[in-house]
Amino acid sequence: MISRLLTNIGELFTNDPTLGDETPVGRLHDAALILDDERVLWVGRATDAPEADERYDARGAAVIPGFVDSHTHLIFSGERSDEFEARMAGERYDGGGIVRTVAATRAASDNQLRQESGARVAALRAGGVTTVEVKSGYALDVDGEARLVELAGEITDEVTFLGAHVVPPEFVTDRDAYVALVAGEMMTRCDSAKWTDVFCDVGAFDLDEARTVLEAGRANGHELRLHANQIADIGAVALAVEMDCASVDHCTHLSDADVERLSASSTVATLLPGADFSTRSPYPSGRRLVDAGVSVALATDCNPGTSYVTSMSFVIALAVREMGLSVDEAVFAATRGGASALRRDDIGHLAVGARSDLVVLNAPRAAHLAYRPGSNLIREVWRGGADVHRRFG
Ligand code: NIG
Ligand code: FE
Repeated sequence: MISRLLTNIGELFTNDPTLGDETPVGRLHDAALILDDERVLWVGRATDAPEADERYDARGAAVIPGFVDSHTHLIFSGERSDEFEARMAGERYDGGGIVRTVAATRAASDNQLRQESGARVAALRAGGVTTVEVKSGYALDVDGEARLVELAGEITDEVTFLGAHVVPPEFVTDRDAYVALVAGEMMTRCDSAKWTDVFCDVGAFDLDEARTVLEAGRANGHELRLHANQIADIGAVALAVEMDCASVDHCTHLSDADVERLSASSTVATLLPGADFSTRSPYPSGRRLVDAGVSVALATDCNPGTSYVTSMSFVIALAVREMGLSVDEAVFAATRGGASALRRDDIGHLAVGARSDLVVLNAPRAAHLAYRPGSNLIREVWRGGADVHRRFG
């Protein structure tokens, strides 16, 4: 296997506190890395770097681990910009538009969905995402959810079954039958997914329904995650912690008791500032969570209803400006935090042995990600040691 030396790195975030400046981001200046197609082989000061087969000059740029986008719904057809406009004019989000995307997605062919999701994956990749989670949840019938899980599996290993997104129109008069279907036949057909998720909120599924589906997911060999406290606080964070979910996502409305619960648990709080932005919701305080010792992740939530966002840089800028995170904390949450939300320790950092997934920025410091919002600062994206995206200039 070929080894590559990436040298002349102005600022390197290793995300390993035992390296560099001993902060959580493990910052090193004038750094170098040696990688092969799979793993980081060496990391340290450029002047100490051993020889490698090939040499790349970062020309003083900042280098960070590839972004881990741990929450997307990127397989869908259609769009809902009219709902976005209505919300900007004062309407509230209540999840009601999900059925419109369900109708458009059911009507789309496999190849159409492949093409549309492929374009979104390419946009995420160009924005520095090297690992992405993808949920089902826009078919809400047995064959359709199995199809979405299969299509998601063509994109990533991090596939989530979200049959419990909302109750589809055919079942509105018999919710219990739909919950039984999701927890039964639909779950079995979707068992190749790694995760089970539920939208547990007002207008979606209540605590008992969510528990039923999560328990079935666990019995089916899935690990668990939960959409919680986006619209209202109905006690979903406590359920997520009790069920040992890897991650509880949104957390727009959090009580002090929830923050305490999370800090005493191994459940990551995944913040989705793109959704708060696009639904004109209050931004939850990331500061409050980090100060309480909660593990925080940041993700795009890419979906047509609440967050048609494919830029992790935008997410980081919002988290810094609106959620009180420092740039270091936000970049960490978008990389190592996302990895923790997927219970992965091979990604999200650049210590020896980590996967060779990284981003070379078009800037000397990672702080530019928030300091220059709206600029494309992603110069190169390396995944498995290979340059999968390059922007010239
Ligand atoms: O994460 N809240 C539930 N699911 C998505 C939105 C889905 C939609 O509105 O299409 C979310 O925000
Ligand atoms: Fe979501």
